[in-house]
Amino acid sequence: MRIDALNDGHDRTAFESGVEPLDRYIRTQASQDIRKRVASCFVLTDVSAAPLGYYTLAATSISLTDLPASLSKKLPRYPAVPATLMGRLAVASQHRGRRLGELLLLDAFSRALRAEIATYAFVVDAKDEAAAGFYRAYDFQPLTAEGRRMFIPMAEIAKLFA
Ligand SMILES: CC(C)(COP(=O)(O)OP(=O)(O)OC[C@H]1O[C@@H](n2cnc3c(N)ncnc32)[C@H](O)[C@@H]1OP(=O)(O)O)[C@@H](O)C(=O)NCCC(=O)NCCS
Repeated sequence: MRIDALNDGHDRTAFESGVEPLDRYIRTQASQDIRKRVASCFVLTDVSAAPLGYYTLAATSISLTDLPASLSKKLPRYPAVPATLMGRLAVASQHRGRRLGELLLLDAFSRALRAEIATYAFVVDAKDEAAAGFYRAYDFQPLTAEGRRMFIPMAEIAKLFA
């Protein structure tokens, strides 16, 4: 198995995660977003060119007032801090439960950690309660003012890879 930046060699036409907007995104939108530099997209494949799963990364920010006071009080008094946003994560329906979601999440953690642009936290948008449950299993916490936006401090991720 390998995880590469999305490219023309990936055959996305049949990707099916059971979540139509996530399927439509990789089929029709991801390449444009990459070209326009508003997101990057990483794809998991095995022997075939058909993706088993994918995720996207982009820059975002977190308002200091949305962080728990226990964390914000240790930060400089900027209005917001930089963060890495994993805007989308999907595993193909027939490959669920094989820890591929975990593999993709850890790969995204690793890329965010290695990036030379500093980010304070890694942020996700859980689309429903099941997705929130998945992220909670990896110690994500809710961002207070935002519905299902969740985060984990990069310092926690760094400990995972130490
Ligand atoms: C969420 C998703 C990416 C998980 O991928 P997956 O490959 O099926 O999950 P994994 O096999 O890697 O699961 C790893 C661990 O996460 C946890 N987990 C997975 N789904 C979970 C859920 N719905 N609730 C709570 N924990 C969950 C489990 O602890 C699991 O470990 P276990 O094997 O000990 O039970 C996948 O179900 C998916 O694509 N869902 C549709 C799209 C989606 O919801 N994307 C997420 C954000 S929008």
